[in-house]
Amino acid sequence: MKAIILKDFGAVDQLEQIDLPVPEISESEVLIQTKAISINPIDVKTRAGRGIAPLIKDEMPAVLGWDISGIVVQVGGSVSSFKVGDEVFGMIAFPKLGKAYAEYVAAAADQLVLKPESVSHVEAAPATVAGLTALQALTQFVKIKTGDRVLIHAASGGVGHYAVQLAKYLGAYVVGTSSAANRDFVLSLGADEHIDYKNKPFEEVTSDIDFVLDAIGGEYIDRSLKVMKDGGTIVCIPSGMNELVAEKAKAANKHGYVMRAKSSAEDMQVIADLLAEGRLRSHIDKIYPLEEMSAAHQHIESGRTVGKIVLTM
Ligand SMILES: NC(=O)c1ccc[n+]([C@@H]2O[C@H](COP(=O)([O-])OP(=O)(O)OC[C@H]3O[C@@H](n4cnc5c(N)ncnc54)[C@H](OP(=O)(O)O)[C@@H]3O)[C@@H](O)[C@H]2O)c1
Repeated sequence: MKAIILKDFGAVDQLEQIDLPVPEISESEVLIQTKAISINPIDVKTRAGRGIAPLIKDEMPAVLGWDISGIVVQVGGSVSSFKVGDEVFGMIAFPKLGKAYAEYVAAAADQLVLKPESVSHVEAAPATVAGLTALQALTQFVKIKTGDRVLIHAASGGVGHYAVQLAKYLGAYVVGTSSAANRDFVLSLGADEHIDYKNKPFEEVTSDIDFVLDAIGGEYIDRSLKVMKDGGTIVCIPSGMNELVAEKAKAANKHGYVMRAKSSAEDMQVIADLLAEGRLRSHIDKIYPLEEMSAAHQHIESGRTVGKIVLTM
């Protein structure tokens, strides 16, 4: 099968297309013929030697990737939830190696759900890492109530564009940040207000926030705490030195958490249902063929992705 391997940590020239044997599945896995996959900043960070690189350094060269949508072509002996021919999607094995940059992927059955018929593979694949992250950040720490003021940083990005839609679905008043170029896009997702972070510091134009989804980290933690109500919550998702968020939030009479998305069929089902109902949509910035993985990485690395990048087989 065709696959993209990461030869060593480094630049995009470390990504190479090769032929690999189709993976063998265990009793609890299914074999999926991938139709679409998606990538995230964590793919790029890991390729460059950051992200989950320390966890996989002994498994190099490796096939990266976690976001898949495809067709079940083989079913492990103990799997009763799926049959050959089912169309499924999910976030595979994160933060271990999901090995999604390939025509066939062995995936734990309990990390997958059926893809709604009305949703294409191209729309389903990206709603996995980014969709789960947005959903889990918004629901795992506090119950967002109708009218709560929710601030979403990088609202035009992969996680942010799902988070705006999900926060609106939960009944929140949503303030989203991006540059002016993506203002109309953020508002089209349902955001009540847009802040152009390049025009003015966001803390000068918003206040009384109940919940912050922080996709930037670093100084954004301190700045976000200033616009939050007492007792409010900030969830910080970038990997890196953001662990102080809990301590800093506590000192400011608020709650702070770092979060890493977890594979969960239960949460994936929530996403599948919302996609099927048209309450959640994937915005696709660009579709690349699998062979153009290097260009797809460079696109994500630009930091300017609007919605998601998808690769098709
Ligand atoms: N913890 C986890 O499990 C988890 C899961 C997924 C992602 N993440 C992390 O979350 C972060 C965001 O991921 P993503 O996939 O959403 O990224 P992304 O799609 O690459 O984000 C790109 C978007 O960010 C916007 N942006 C950039 N700088 C901004 C700023 N200072 N203020 C407001 N918007 C800004 C850009 O809009 P403009 O072009 O308009 O500036 C662009 O649309 C990454 O660090 C990623 O690694 C963590």
